[in-house]
Amino acid sequence: MVSTPGRALGETLVAAEAIQQRIIELARQIDAAYPNTARPLVLVCVLKGSLIFTADLARALRVPVELDCVAVRSYSGSTVTTGQVEMVKDIGMSLRDRDVLIVEDIVDTGRTIAFLREHLEHHGPRSLRLVTLLDKVSRRVRQVSVDWAGFQIPDRFVVGYGLDHVEQHRNLPDVHVLGEE
Ligand code: IMP
Ligand code: MG
Repeated sequence: MVSTPGRALGETLVAAEAIQQRIIELARQIDAAYPNTARPLVLVCVLKGSLIFTADLARALRVPVELDCVAVRSYSGSTVTTGQVEMVKDIGMSLRDRDVLIVEDIVDTGRTIAFLREHLEHHGPRSLRLVTLLDKVSRRVRQVSVDWAGFQIPDRFVVGYGLDHVEQHRNLPDVHVLGEE
């Protein structure tokens, strides 16, 4: 158990080794989906949660990639969503006619991805797809298309491997359930 201020950690839900193994599988599927990219695939990292997933996925891919980041906010420092999504940092490059892959840490209600997909479509990409490490399918409020998902997980609040609770636990190698208060 790692000692940090704030809420304690619960059980390990996805171990670091399983994450790395799954990333290799996802990378091979993604490679296969972009067989003749005239230009590199653009990975859009959704800060901050998918920072670590993007770093590992990018290095597992064999297709050439370019990287950019967006930041959105849908949670206001708790485990309860407000339903409101706002853009904190927009994309910094042209996506026109590019193959774009959004890299997310987790799809929960689907509101963030619905918002982001619509936003990025306005940039006129050639294709726009989504890979998420974690998918809480049972929590969906907006129907969004998930092209690749690492792990489907139950309706539990999780931290680690980029995911936080009030900015903590992002650096843990495993994905844990957040402990009770
Ligand atoms: P959605 O808009 O409800 O799909 O939520 C997506 C965002 O909420 C994710 O990108 C995360 O930043 C955050 N989120 C959702 N569930 C969790 C969780 O279990 N742990 C940490 N962050 C979460
Ligand atoms: Mg996220």
